[in-house]
Amino acid sequence: MPPSPLIARTVPSLRRAVDNLRKRKSTIALVPTMGALHDGHVSLVRLAKRRASRVVVSIFVNPTQFAPTEDFGAYPRTWKADIAKLAAEGVDVVWHPDVAAMYPEGFATRIVPEGPALAGLEDRFRPHFFGGVATVVGKLFTQCRPDIAIFGEKDFQQLRVVTRMAGDLDLGVNVIGSRTVRERDGLAMSSRNVYLSPEERQTATTLYRAMKDSAGRIRAGEAIGSAVARGTEMIEAAGFALDYFDVRHARTLAPVTSLKDGPLRILVAAKLGSTRLIDNIAV
Ligand code: PAF
Repeated sequence: MPPSPLIARTVPSLRRAVDNLRKRKSTIALVPTMGALHDGHVSLVRLAKRRASRVVVSIFVNPTQFAPTEDFGAYPRTWKADIAKLAAEGVDVVWHPDVAAMYPEGFATRIVPEGPALAGLEDRFRPHFFGGVATVVGKLFTQCRPDIAIFGEKDFQQLRVVTRMAGDLDLGVNVIGSRTVRERDGLAMSSRNVYLSPEERQTATTLYRAMKDSAGRIRAGEAIGSAVARGTEMIEAAGFALDYFDVRHARTLAPVTSLKDGPLRILVAAKLGSTRLIDNIAV
C-alpha cells in the first residue's frame, strides 16, 4: 500500500510540498476536483500518473461557481473516502484549502473568460459558472505550478475554457482532457448522480442513448437539425426538462450545419427532477 498523501491546507505548505517534489526533478500533474470522488476521478489520477512523475489532487468545493440557488451547501462531501481512494492510487499531495485560504478577506480579483465560455451552452443556464471556474482554476495553477493538469471531458465546455485560459494567460500548464468514464448502462459518472432516485437513475441513461442515436444518424447522412430533433424528442419523452441538446464544433464549440464542419461533438444538459445532468460525445 503506498503511503498516505501529504495534505496541504495553506498556500505556504502547498508551496513547500511542491518545491520538495521539484527538487527531485519531478514533473508534476495537477488533478483539480471538488471531492466526492468516483471512478471517473480515479481515471483522471491514473492518467496523471502516466503523464507525470508526481501527482497533486486538489479537493475544493468552489463557492464562486455556484449560484445562490444551486447546490453548494448540499454538494456531496466525502473526505475520508476520498483520501482513502487517493492513497490507494499513490497520490503525492492533496491540496485542500478552506474557503478563507482560497478567497481571503478582501479578495477582489476575478478571471472573466470569453470565447468558449460564451458558446451559448452551459453559460446560458449558469451565467456565473465559468467566471468561478476560471478564477479558481487560475488560482490552482498558480498555487501548484504544475506542468500538466488533467480535466474530464464530461465537462466539455469547461475543458475548452480552461485550455483557452491556460494558453491565453501563458500559465505554462499543459491542459489534458481525459475520456468520460461511464456506468455499464452508459450514464456518465458524476458526483451529482447520488441525487438521483432509483427510478430517475434508470431514466438517466436516456441522455447517452439519445446522443448515440443522434450521432449515428448524423454519421449516416441525416441532417443535423432532424437528428437533433429526434434526440430532443427522446429526452423530453423520458421526462427530462431539457436545457440544450446541440451539435457543435469539437474544438471551437461554434455552431455547425453539416458533418463536413467537423470534428463534431454532441452536448446535452437536462434536469431530471431536481438533478441537473450534463454529458457529451464525439460524432
Ligand atoms: O470540474 C470540477 O470538479 C470543477 O469545476 C473544478 C475544475 C475542480 C473547479 O472547481
